[in-house]
Amino acid sequence: MDSLVVDVTRRRFLRQTFAFSALAALGSVPGIAAPQTSDASAADLLMIGDWGYDTQHEAQAGVAVAMRKYAQNRRLRTQALLMLGDNWYGALEGGATSERWQTQFEQLYPASVFDCPSYAILGNHDYQRWPESKVEAELEYARAGRSRWKMPARWYRFDFPERNPLITFIALDSNMPFKDGTSDHGRDFTLTPQQQVEQLAWLEAEFKRPRATPFLVVMGHHPVYSDGPHGDHPVLIRDWDPLFRKYKVDLYLAGHDHDLQHLEFENHPTSFFLSGGGGADLYDLKIDPSKRGPFAQKVYGFSHLSVTSEKMVLRHLSDGGSILHAFTKTRDGKVNIA
Ligand SMILES: [Fe+2]
Repeated sequence: MDSLVVDVTRRRFLRQTFAFSALAALGSVPGIAAPQTSDASAADLLMIGDWGYDTQHEAQAGVAVAMRKYAQNRRLRTQALLMLGDNWYGALEGGATSERWQTQFEQLYPASVFDCPSYAILGNHDYQRWPESKVEAELEYARAGRSRWKMPARWYRFDFPERNPLITFIALDSNMPFKDGTSDHGRDFTLTPQQQVEQLAWLEAEFKRPRATPFLVVMGHHPVYSDGPHGDHPVLIRDWDPLFRKYKVDLYLAGHDHDLQHLEFENHPTSFFLSGGGGADLYDLKIDPSKRGPFAQKVYGFSHLSVTSEKMVLRHLSDGGSILHAFTKTRDGKVNIA
């Protein structure tokens, strides 16, 4: 499909391809009773992107409170948090010893509610020199080992949950120019060309490794495809998307655009899920989700992934805690939208 742009036939495709069904397990979808506990056999994680804003913290705090209430009300045993990049906007004075680690991470997403690893990836604002890049500080904070913060490298692999894993996660560094030889943020803010080549070789090697888990999920800060203002990423489409198709990646998680999205493309094995509503200022969408969807909304919020050996359930939630969009994806790749 040319540049994989789904046009006005999208709605018809959705009607034809997806078996729309009311999924009781999806919770507070209108007309469906909300379960107060999660599926006992499921492993649950919550995710946010674009959360560590520097100039105002009310929106971040609002989303964090909603996450805590959501987890507590459902008696969710959250087994991981995913921090999808742009973890630190502005200056991080003191680096790994900055007070912001306490006030904007440890206290807002407290271990008393989220007693689990917090897997983080790097966004453009983490690289941004303000005046220093925050990348080394984030790696160092993880290395110190006194926190739930996990970032063993710029790109890495982990299994989820830690015991009896169901998902193989590939965490990537998506900070690269939109076009070769250029950069939208300046050389110092991106991977070097050599690092790009190294990561790409590592990625394919990881895809070739045998895995025992039923699901394969990749996460990177920049979306490959987005209805938001940053749009589609030509280099990621060129370098990563063919591998997602070849190795049948089930799900790609991203942030960067400050909204919540879920995009599907005909005959593409990967669902594209964007959760960038963690606290930074919101911007208007560029593409109406009625033209390319099934879902995109300019809203603060977070997202929930619940997985069993048979299926993944993905939900986007507002900062009021209500479910805005939900779908399941089974082992054979079928997507059912609630
Ligand atoms: Fe970003």
